[in-house]
Amino acid sequence: MHNAQCAPGVIFPLSSFGFRMAASTHSSHHAATHMHMHSDAHETLLQEFVAIRAATLELCKPLEIEDYVIQSAPFMSPPRWHLGHTSWFFEMLLTRFVPNYTVYSQAYLYYFNSYYEGFGARINRQKRGSVSRPTVQDTLRYRAHIDNHCTALLEHLSALPNATEAARLFHLGLEHEMQHQELLVYDIKYLLADEYRPLQIAPMPCARERVDGDVEFRGGLFELGARTDEYVFVWDNEAPRHTVYVQDFALDKRLVTNAEFLEFIRDGGYRNYRWWLSAGWDWVQAEMIEAPLYWERHDDAGGSTWYIRDYRGVRSADNHEPVQHVSYYEASAYAKWRGKRLPTEAEWEYAATLSPSGVKQAFPWGQTTVDSYHGNFLENNLWSAAEAGTFPAGTTAHGIWQMLGDVWEWTSSDYAPYPGFQTQFDEYNDKWFINQKVLRGGSFATPRASIRSTYRNFFAPTDRWMTSGFRCARTLM
Ligand SMILES: [Fe+2]
Repeated sequence: MHNAQCAPGVIFPLSSFGFRMAASTHSSHHAATHMHMHSDAHETLLQEFVAIRAATLELCKPLEIEDYVIQSAPFMSPPRWHLGHTSWFFEMLLTRFVPNYTVYSQAYLYYFNSYYEGFGARINRQKRGSVSRPTVQDTLRYRAHIDNHCTALLEHLSALPNATEAARLFHLGLEHEMQHQELLVYDIKYLLADEYRPLQIAPMPCARERVDGDVEFRGGLFELGARTDEYVFVWDNEAPRHTVYVQDFALDKRLVTNAEFLEFIRDGGYRNYRWWLSAGWDWVQAEMIEAPLYWERHDDAGGSTWYIRDYRGVRSADNHEPVQHVSYYEASAYAKWRGKRLPTEAEWEYAATLSPSGVKQAFPWGQTTVDSYHGNFLENNLWSAAEAGTFPAGTTAHGIWQMLGDVWEWTSSDYAPYPGFQTQFDEYNDKWFINQKVLRGGSFATPRASIRSTYRNFFAPTDRWMTSGFRCARTLM
Protein backbone atom coordinates (compact mmCIF):
# COMPACT_ATOMS: atom_id res chain seq x y z
CA MET A 1 0.00 0.00 0.00
CA HIS A 2 2.91 2.34 0.57
CA ASN A 3 4.51 4.04 -2.34
CA ALA A 4 8.06 5.23 -2.51
CA GLN A 5 7.16 8.89 -2.26
CA CYS A 6 5.67 8.98 1.19
CA ALA A 7 7.48 9.73 4.40
CA PRO A 8 6.90 7.97 7.70
CA GLY A 9 5.89 10.11 10.60
CA VAL A 10 3.03 11.54 12.48
CA ILE A 11 0.58 13.76 10.72
CA PHE A 12 0.04 16.96 12.57
CA PRO A 13 -0.76 20.48 11.51
CA LEU A 14 2.10 21.87 9.47
CA SER A 15 0.85 25.38 9.27
CA SER A 16 -2.28 27.31 9.71
CA PHE A 17 -3.43 30.80 9.20
CA GLY A 18 -5.26 30.78 12.47
CA PHE A 19 -8.80 30.79 11.17
CA ARG A 20 -10.90 28.50 13.31
CA MET A 21 -14.49 27.53 12.98
CA ALA A 22 -16.54 26.76 16.05
CA ALA A 23 -18.79 23.98 14.90
CA SER A 24 -19.77 22.23 18.06
CA THR A 25 -21.50 25.13 19.70
CA HIS A 26 -23.42 28.11 18.60
CA SER A 27 -20.70 30.51 17.60
CA SER A 28 -20.33 33.93 19.05
CA HIS A 29 -20.78 35.11 15.48
CA HIS A 30 -24.39 33.97 15.55
CA ALA A 31 -25.07 34.13 19.24
CA ALA A 32 -23.87 37.69 19.57
CA THR A 33 -26.75 39.56 21.05
CA HIS A 34 -25.23 42.45 22.91
CA MET A 35 -22.53 44.96 22.28
CA HIS A 36 -19.71 43.21 24.09
CA MET A 37 -20.08 39.99 22.11
CA HIS A 38 -20.48 41.95 18.92
CA SER A 39 -17.09 43.53 19.48
CA ASP A 40 -15.44 40.14 20.07
CA ALA A 41 -16.97 38.70 16.93
CA HIS A 42 -15.94 41.76 14.96
CA GLU A 43 -12.38 41.58 16.26
CA THR A 44 -12.24 37.95 15.08
CA LEU A 45 -13.65 38.96 11.72
CA LEU A 46 -10.90 41.56 11.31
CA GLN A 47 -8.20 38.99 12.15
CA GLU A 48 -9.71 36.51 9.72
CA PHE A 49 -9.87 39.17 7.05
CA VAL A 50 -6.16 39.96 7.38
CA ALA A 51 -5.11 36.28 7.50
CA ILE A 52 -7.26 35.10 4.60
CA ARG A 53 -6.35 37.99 2.33
CA ALA A 54 -2.66 37.33 3.05
CA ALA A 55 -3.05 33.62 2.30
CA THR A 56 -4.26 34.43 -1.23
CA LEU A 57 -1.10 36.45 -1.90
CA GLU A 58 1.06 33.65 -0.47
CA LEU A 59 -0.27 31.27 -3.13
CA CYS A 60 0.83 33.73 -5.81
CA LYS A 61 4.29 34.50 -4.45
CA PRO A 62 6.11 31.82 -6.46
CA LEU A 63 4.63 33.16 -9.72
CA GLU A 64 6.60 35.14 -12.30
CA ILE A 65 4.97 38.27 -13.67
CA GLU A 66 4.03 36.52 -16.94
CA ASP A 67 2.21 33.76 -15.05
CA TYR A 68 -0.29 36.24 -13.63
CA VAL A 69 -1.61 37.41 -16.97
CA ILE A 70 -2.35 34.61 -19.39
CA GLN A 71 -5.52 32.57 -19.65
CA SER A 72 -4.53 29.21 -21.11
CA ALA A 73 -8.08 27.79 -21.34
CA PRO A 74 -11.56 29.30 -21.23
CA PHE A 75 -12.39 27.56 -17.94
CA MET A 76 -9.40 28.92 -16.01
CA SER A 77 -8.78 32.44 -14.76
CA PRO A 78 -5.50 34.37 -14.83
CA PRO A 79 -4.08 34.71 -11.29
CA ARG A 80 -4.06 38.50 -11.68
CA TRP A 81 -7.79 38.31 -12.23
CA HIS A 82 -8.34 36.29 -9.04
CA LEU A 83 -6.42 38.92 -7.03
CA GLY A 84 -8.49 41.73 -8.49
CA HIS A 85 -11.82 39.93 -8.54
CA THR A 86 -11.72 38.98 -4.84
CA SER A 87 -10.93 42.66 -4.14
CA TRP A 88 -13.76 43.77 -6.40
CA PHE A 89 -16.10 41.62 -4.31
CA PHE A 90 -15.09 43.52 -1.16
CA GLU A 91 -15.28 46.83 -3.02
CA MET A 92 -18.94 46.09 -3.71
CA LEU A 93 -19.39 45.84 0.07
CA LEU A 94 -17.49 49.08 0.63
CA THR A 95 -19.82 50.92 -1.73
CA ARG A 96 -22.70 49.66 0.40
CA PHE A 97 -21.35 50.22 3.90
CA VAL A 98 -18.95 53.18 3.64
CA PRO A 99 -20.74 56.50 3.19
CA ASN A 100 -19.38 58.43 0.22
CA TYR A 101 -16.97 55.65 -0.77
CA THR A 102 -15.57 56.42 -4.22
CA VAL A 103 -15.06 53.49 -6.56
CA TYR A 104 -11.34 52.97 -7.27
CA SER A 105 -11.73 52.61 -11.04
CA GLN A 106 -14.72 52.07 -13.33
CA ALA A 107 -12.43 50.15 -15.70
CA TYR A 108 -11.53 47.71 -12.93
CA LEU A 109 -15.22 47.10 -12.20
CA TYR A 110 -15.56 46.00 -15.81
CA TYR A 111 -12.53 43.72 -15.78
CA PHE A 112 -12.86 42.15 -12.33
CA ASN A 113 -16.58 41.37 -12.28
CA SER A 114 -17.02 37.72 -13.22
CA TYR A 115 -20.62 36.89 -13.98
CA TYR A 116 -22.79 39.16 -11.86
CA GLU A 117 -25.34 40.77 -14.19
CA GLY A 118 -26.59 42.79 -11.22
CA PHE A 119 -23.26 44.61 -10.94
CA GLY A 120 -23.17 45.96 -14.46
CA ALA A 121 -21.18 45.36 -17.65
CA ARG A 122 -18.23 42.99 -17.52
CA ILE A 123 -15.59 41.54 -19.75
CA ASN A 124 -16.26 38.29 -21.62
CA ARG A 125 -14.89 35.65 -19.23
CA GLN A 126 -12.94 33.93 -21.96
CA LYS A 127 -11.17 37.15 -22.94
CA ARG A 128 -9.60 37.98 -19.61
CA GLY A 129 -6.17 36.81 -20.75
CA SER A 130 -6.29 38.93 -23.88
CA VAL A 131 -5.73 42.30 -22.21
CA SER A 132 -2.62 43.30 -20.33
CA ARG A 133 -4.15 46.13 -18.28
CA PRO A 134 -4.68 46.55 -15.41
CA THR A 135 -1.13 45.36 -14.91
CA VAL A 136 -0.13 43.07 -12.09
CA GLN A 137 1.31 46.02 -10.17
CA ASP A 138 -1.90 48.00 -10.75
CA THR A 139 -3.89 45.04 -9.47
CA LEU A 140 -1.76 44.69 -6.34
CA ARG A 141 -2.18 48.43 -5.65
CA TYR A 142 -5.93 48.04 -6.06
CA ARG A 143 -5.87 45.09 -3.69
CA ALA A 144 -3.95 47.07 -1.06
CA HIS A 145 -6.37 49.97 -1.43
CA ILE A 146 -9.35 47.69 -0.81
CA ASP A 147 -7.59 46.03 2.14
CA ASN A 148 -6.94 49.42 3.76
CA HIS A 149 -10.56 50.47 3.42
CA CYS A 150 -11.90 47.13 4.62
CA THR A 151 -9.69 46.96 7.70
CA ALA A 152 -10.61 50.55 8.56
CA LEU A 153 -14.27 49.61 8.30
CA LEU A 154 -13.91 46.37 10.25
CA GLU A 155 -12.05 48.13 13.06
CA HIS A 156 -15.14 50.24 13.68
CA LEU A 157 -17.77 47.77 12.57
CA SER A 158 -19.69 47.80 15.85
CA ALA A 159 -20.41 51.50 15.36
CA LEU A 160 -22.33 50.87 12.14
CA PRO A 161 -26.12 50.89 12.42
CA ASN A 162 -26.24 47.83 10.13
CA ALA A 163 -23.25 46.07 11.72
CA THR A 164 -24.84 42.62 11.72
CA GLU A 165 -25.57 42.71 8.00
CA ALA A 166 -22.11 44.12 7.27
CA ALA A 167 -20.47 41.36 9.33
CA ARG A 168 -22.52 38.73 7.50
CA LEU A 169 -21.50 40.02 4.09
CA PHE A 170 -17.84 40.50 4.98
CA HIS A 171 -17.77 36.92 6.22
CA LEU A 172 -19.36 35.91 2.93
CA GLY A 173 -16.55 37.81 1.18
CA LEU A 174 -14.01 35.72 3.09
CA GLU A 175 -15.74 32.48 2.12
CA HIS A 176 -15.66 33.74 -1.46
CA GLU A 177 -11.96 34.55 -1.10
CA MET A 178 -11.26 31.00 0.15
CA GLN A 179 -13.12 29.56 -2.82
CA HIS A 180 -10.83 31.60 -5.05
CA GLN A 181 -7.76 30.31 -3.20
CA GLU A 182 -8.84 26.83 -4.21
CA LEU A 183 -9.51 27.99 -7.77
CA LEU A 184 -6.01 29.49 -7.83
CA VAL A 185 -4.61 26.06 -6.99
CA TYR A 186 -6.52 24.59 -9.96
CA ASP A 187 -5.57 27.40 -12.32
CA ILE A 188 -1.89 27.60 -11.40
CA LYS A 189 -1.70 23.84 -11.84
CA TYR A 190 -3.20 24.20 -15.30
CA LEU A 191 -0.65 26.90 -16.11
CA LEU A 192 2.46 25.41 -14.57
CA ALA A 193 1.92 21.99 -12.94
CA ASP A 194 5.35 20.82 -11.77
CA GLU A 195 7.00 24.13 -12.72
CA TYR A 196 5.29 25.86 -9.80
CA ARG A 197 7.34 25.78 -6.60
CA PRO A 198 5.05 26.09 -3.56
CA LEU A 199 6.44 28.15 -0.69
CA GLN A 200 5.84 25.13 1.52
CA ILE A 201 5.48 21.55 0.38
CA ALA A 202 5.38 18.80 2.99
CA PRO A 203 6.58 15.21 2.52
CA MET A 204 3.72 12.92 1.52
CA PRO A 205 2.85 10.98 4.68
CA CYS A 206 2.66 7.18 4.53
CA ALA A 207 -0.60 5.36 4.87
CA ARG A 208 -0.69 3.59 8.23
CA GLU A 209 -3.04 0.87 7.15
CA ARG A 210 -4.55 -0.72 4.10
CA VAL A 211 -8.16 0.23 3.46
CA ASP A 212 -10.48 -1.84 1.26
CA GLY A 213 -14.08 -2.84 0.89
CA ASP A 214 -17.27 -1.02 1.69
CA VAL A 215 -19.66 -0.37 4.56
CA GLU A 216 -23.31 -1.37 4.41
CA PHE A 217 -25.86 1.09 5.71
CA ARG A 218 -29.45 0.45 6.65
CA GLY A 219 -31.47 3.21 5.05
CA GLY A 220 -34.29 5.25 6.49
CA LEU A 221 -35.39 8.80 7.01
CA PHE A 222 -32.50 11.24 7.00
CA GLU A 223 -32.20 14.97 7.68
CA LEU A 224 -30.28 16.22 4.63
CA GLY A 225 -28.55 19.58 4.64
CA ALA A 226 -27.35 22.11 7.19
CA ARG A 227 -29.08 23.94 9.95
CA THR A 228 -27.77 27.46 9.86
CA ASP A 229 -27.08 27.51 13.62
CA GLU A 230 -24.89 24.40 13.40
CA TYR A 231 -21.88 26.02 11.77
CA VAL A 232 -20.39 29.50 11.79
CA PHE A 233 -21.31 29.79 8.16
CA VAL A 234 -23.24 27.76 5.62
CA TRP A 235 -23.97 28.59 2.02
CA ASP A 236 -27.59 29.10 1.14
CA ASN A 237 -27.55 26.01 -1.12
CA GLU A 238 -26.85 23.71 1.88
CA ALA A 239 -30.10 24.70 3.54
CA PRO A 240 -32.75 24.17 4.64
CA ARG A 241 -32.29 20.85 6.36
CA HIS A 242 -35.11 18.61 5.18
CA THR A 243 -36.18 14.99 5.43
CA VAL A 244 -35.35 12.52 2.67
CA TYR A 245 -35.62 8.76 2.47
CA VAL A 246 -32.40 6.85 1.85
CA GLN A 247 -32.59 3.24 0.65
CA ASP A 248 -30.21 0.62 2.04
CA PHE A 249 -26.84 1.08 0.35
CA ALA A 250 -23.13 0.34 0.66
CA LEU A 251 -20.38 2.95 0.31
CA ASP A 252 -16.70 2.30 -0.40
CA LYS A 253 -14.41 2.90 2.57
CA ARG A 254 -12.04 4.90 0.42
CA LEU A 255 -11.63 6.80 -2.83
CA VAL A 256 -10.90 5.07 -6.14
CA THR A 257 -7.12 5.05 -6.68
CA ASN A 258 -4.93 5.83 -9.68
CA ALA A 259 -3.91 2.16 -9.90
CA GLU A 260 -7.53 1.08 -10.03
CA PHE A 261 -8.35 3.67 -12.65
CA LEU A 262 -5.37 2.46 -14.66
CA GLU A 263 -7.02 -0.99 -14.77
CA PHE A 264 -10.04 0.64 -16.39
CA ILE A 265 -7.79 2.26 -19.01
CA ARG A 266 -5.91 -0.98 -19.68
CA ASP A 267 -9.20 -2.81 -20.06
CA GLY A 268 -10.11 -0.44 -22.89
CA GLY A 269 -12.62 1.43 -20.75
CA TYR A 270 -12.31 4.63 -22.77
CA ARG A 271 -13.02 2.77 -26.00
CA ASN A 272 -16.07 0.79 -24.92
CA TYR A 273 -19.41 2.57 -25.23
CA ARG A 274 -20.98 0.11 -22.76
CA TRP A 275 -19.70 2.01 -19.73
CA TRP A 276 -20.59 5.52 -20.84
CA LEU A 277 -23.56 7.81 -20.58
CA SER A 278 -24.58 8.92 -24.05
CA ALA A 279 -23.35 12.49 -23.63
CA GLY A 280 -20.18 11.14 -22.02
CA TRP A 281 -19.49 8.85 -24.96
CA ASP A 282 -19.90 11.82 -27.32
CA TRP A 283 -17.50 13.84 -25.16
CA VAL A 284 -14.83 11.13 -25.01
CA GLN A 285 -14.86 10.77 -28.77
CA ALA A 286 -15.06 14.47 -29.64
CA GLU A 287 -12.27 15.41 -27.22
CA MET A 288 -10.29 12.19 -27.81
CA ILE A 289 -10.08 11.61 -24.07
CA GLU A 290 -8.07 8.56 -23.03
CA ALA A 291 -7.03 9.28 -19.44
CA PRO A 292 -7.62 11.76 -16.61
CA LEU A 293 -6.25 15.27 -17.02
CA TYR A 294 -2.53 15.53 -16.13
CA TRP A 295 -1.90 11.92 -17.14
CA GLU A 296 0.80 11.44 -19.80
CA ARG A 297 1.53 8.30 -21.78
CA HIS A 298 5.20 7.63 -22.43
CA ASP A 299 5.68 5.11 -25.23
CA ASP A 300 8.82 3.06 -25.65
CA ALA A 301 9.84 -0.31 -27.06
CA GLY A 302 8.47 -2.13 -24.03
CA GLY A 303 5.01 -0.64 -24.41
CA SER A 304 3.37 2.36 -22.90
CA THR A 305 3.50 3.65 -19.34
CA TRP A 306 1.25 6.24 -17.75
CA TYR A 307 2.65 9.05 -15.66
CA ILE A 308 1.04 11.87 -13.69
CA ARG A 309 2.47 15.37 -13.78
CA ASP A 310 1.40 17.72 -11.00
CA TYR A 311 2.67 19.93 -8.19
CA ARG A 312 4.58 16.99 -6.71
CA GLY A 313 6.44 16.30 -9.93
CA VAL A 314 6.19 13.48 -12.46
CA ARG A 315 5.57 9.96 -11.18
CA SER A 316 4.09 6.65 -12.22
CA ALA A 317 0.29 6.60 -12.37
CA ASP A 318 0.40 3.08 -10.96
CA ASN A 319 0.02 4.23 -7.36
CA HIS A 320 -2.50 4.11 -4.53
CA GLU A 321 -3.23 7.81 -4.30
CA PRO A 322 -6.82 8.78 -5.12
CA VAL A 323 -7.49 9.39 -8.79
CA GLN A 324 -8.24 13.04 -9.52
CA HIS A 325 -9.02 15.31 -12.45
CA VAL A 326 -11.72 13.03 -13.81
CA SER A 327 -14.99 14.33 -15.21
CA TYR A 328 -18.38 13.15 -14.05
CA TYR A 329 -18.56 11.03 -17.19
CA GLU A 330 -15.29 9.27 -16.42
CA ALA A 331 -16.29 8.64 -12.80
CA SER A 332 -19.65 7.28 -13.88
CA ALA A 333 -18.11 5.04 -16.58
CA TYR A 334 -15.57 3.60 -14.15
CA ALA A 335 -18.28 2.84 -11.57
CA LYS A 336 -20.40 1.02 -14.15
CA TRP A 337 -17.38 -0.95 -15.35
CA ARG A 338 -16.78 -2.04 -11.71
CA GLY A 339 -20.39 -3.14 -11.39
CA LYS A 340 -21.07 -0.30 -8.99
CA ARG A 341 -22.42 3.24 -9.17
CA LEU A 342 -21.75 6.70 -7.80
CA PRO A 343 -23.43 7.60 -4.49
CA THR A 344 -26.21 10.15 -4.31
CA GLU A 345 -25.39 13.22 -2.27
CA ALA A 346 -27.88 12.07 0.39
CA GLU A 347 -26.05 8.73 0.70
CA TRP A 348 -22.72 10.53 0.89
CA GLU A 349 -23.90 12.91 3.61
CA TYR A 350 -25.63 10.08 5.49
CA ALA A 351 -22.38 8.13 5.63
CA ALA A 352 -20.36 11.25 6.44
CA THR A 353 -22.45 12.45 9.36
CA LEU A 354 -24.00 9.42 11.05
CA SER A 355 -22.80 8.87 14.62
CA PRO A 356 -22.71 5.34 16.11
CA SER A 357 -26.04 6.08 17.82
CA GLY A 358 -27.60 7.37 14.62
CA VAL A 359 -27.45 11.08 15.43
CA LYS A 360 -26.32 13.49 12.75
CA GLN A 361 -22.89 15.01 13.52
CA ALA A 362 -21.28 18.12 12.09
CA PHE A 363 -18.20 16.29 10.77
CA PRO A 364 -17.31 12.69 9.89
CA TRP A 365 -15.33 12.30 13.13
CA GLY A 366 -17.84 14.08 15.35
CA GLN A 367 -18.26 17.67 16.42
CA THR A 368 -14.62 18.87 16.58
CA THR A 369 -13.66 21.70 14.24
CA VAL A 370 -11.65 20.67 11.17
CA ASP A 371 -7.91 20.51 11.74
CA SER A 372 -4.97 19.28 9.69
CA TYR A 373 -4.81 15.92 11.42
CA HIS A 374 -8.37 15.15 10.27
CA GLY A 375 -7.49 15.12 6.63
CA ASN A 376 -5.63 16.61 3.72
CA PHE A 377 -6.51 20.29 3.20
CA LEU A 378 -4.75 23.32 1.77
CA GLU A 379 -2.95 24.07 5.05
CA ASN A 380 -1.39 20.59 5.08
CA ASN A 381 0.75 21.75 2.14
CA LEU A 382 0.76 18.35 0.49
CA TRP A 383 -0.32 19.75 -2.88
CA SER A 384 -1.87 16.45 -3.91
CA ALA A 385 -4.21 13.77 -2.60
CA ALA A 386 -2.97 11.26 0.00
CA GLU A 387 -3.57 7.52 0.19
CA ALA A 388 -6.42 6.15 2.26
CA GLY A 389 -5.12 5.06 5.66
CA THR A 390 -3.17 8.28 6.20
CA PHE A 391 -5.49 10.28 8.49
CA PRO A 392 -7.06 7.92 11.05
CA ALA A 393 -8.52 10.84 13.04
CA GLY A 394 -10.68 11.75 10.06
CA THR A 395 -12.53 8.46 9.71
CA THR A 396 -16.23 8.05 10.40
CA ALA A 397 -17.62 5.94 13.21
CA HIS A 398 -18.32 3.28 10.58
CA GLY A 399 -14.74 3.19 9.32
CA ILE A 400 -15.00 5.27 6.17
CA TRP A 401 -11.90 7.26 5.19
CA GLN A 402 -11.21 10.44 3.21
CA MET A 403 -14.69 11.93 3.41
CA LEU A 404 -13.29 15.45 3.89
CA GLY A 405 -10.12 16.54 2.12
CA ASP A 406 -8.02 14.88 -0.61
CA VAL A 407 -10.41 15.22 -3.57
CA TRP A 408 -13.93 16.43 -4.22
CA GLU A 409 -16.20 13.46 -4.79
CA TRP A 410 -18.63 13.29 -7.66
CA THR A 411 -22.13 12.26 -6.68
CA SER A 412 -24.89 11.20 -9.04
CA SER A 413 -27.11 14.03 -7.77
CA ASP A 414 -28.11 16.95 -9.93
CA TYR A 415 -27.29 20.33 -8.48
CA ALA A 416 -30.75 21.67 -7.63
CA PRO A 417 -32.25 23.73 -4.82
CA TYR A 418 -33.31 21.89 -1.69
CA PRO A 419 -37.04 22.13 -0.93
CA GLY A 420 -37.64 25.50 0.70
CA PHE A 421 -34.39 27.01 -0.63
CA GLN A 422 -34.11 30.76 -0.19
CA THR A 423 -31.31 32.67 -1.84
CA GLN A 424 -29.10 34.68 0.49
CA PHE A 425 -27.11 36.35 -2.24
CA ASP A 426 -28.46 36.72 -5.74
CA GLU A 427 -26.47 35.21 -8.59
CA TYR A 428 -24.02 33.43 -6.28
CA ASN A 429 -25.33 29.88 -6.01
CA ASP A 430 -28.90 30.11 -7.20
CA LYS A 431 -28.40 30.78 -10.88
CA TRP A 432 -26.30 27.63 -11.35
CA PHE A 433 -29.13 25.22 -10.51
CA ILE A 434 -29.04 23.64 -13.96
CA ASN A 435 -26.95 21.07 -15.85
CA GLN A 436 -24.40 20.51 -13.09
CA LYS A 437 -23.60 17.67 -10.70
CA VAL A 438 -22.94 17.91 -6.96
CA LEU A 439 -19.51 17.13 -5.54
CA ARG A 440 -18.88 16.65 -1.82
CA GLY A 441 -16.09 16.71 0.71
CA GLY A 442 -13.46 19.28 -0.27
CA SER A 443 -9.93 18.58 -1.41
CA PHE A 444 -6.24 19.11 -0.66
CA ALA A 445 -6.76 22.55 -2.20
CA THR A 446 -9.64 23.53 0.11
CA PRO A 447 -8.89 25.90 3.02
CA ARG A 448 -9.95 23.75 5.94
CA ALA A 449 -12.00 26.47 7.62
CA SER A 450 -14.33 26.49 4.64
CA ILE A 451 -15.33 22.83 4.45
CA ARG A 452 -18.28 21.05 6.05
CA SER A 453 -20.06 17.72 5.62
CA THR A 454 -23.03 19.56 4.15
CA TYR A 455 -21.02 21.64 1.63
CA ARG A 456 -22.36 21.31 -1.92
CA ASN A 457 -19.90 22.03 -4.67
CA PHE A 458 -21.02 21.79 -8.29
CA PHE A 459 -19.46 21.48 -11.70
CA ALA A 460 -20.53 20.59 -15.22
CA PRO A 461 -20.18 16.88 -16.08
CA THR A 462 -17.28 17.54 -18.47
CA ASP A 463 -15.24 19.70 -16.06
CA ARG A 464 -12.08 18.13 -14.69
CA TRP A 465 -9.43 20.78 -14.12
CA MET A 466 -10.61 20.93 -10.51
CA THR A 467 -9.52 18.32 -7.95
CA SER A 468 -12.34 15.90 -8.70
CA GLY A 469 -12.29 12.22 -7.78
CA PHE A 470 -14.88 9.77 -6.52
CA ARG A 471 -15.76 6.68 -4.55
CA CYS A 472 -18.27 4.01 -5.52
CA ALA A 473 -21.50 2.87 -3.94
CA ARG A 474 -23.71 -0.21 -4.27
CA THR A 475 -27.42 -0.73 -4.00
CA LEU A 476 -28.42 -3.37 -1.45
CA MET A 477 -31.43 -5.41 -2.39
FE1 LIG B 1 -15.92 34.85 -7.57
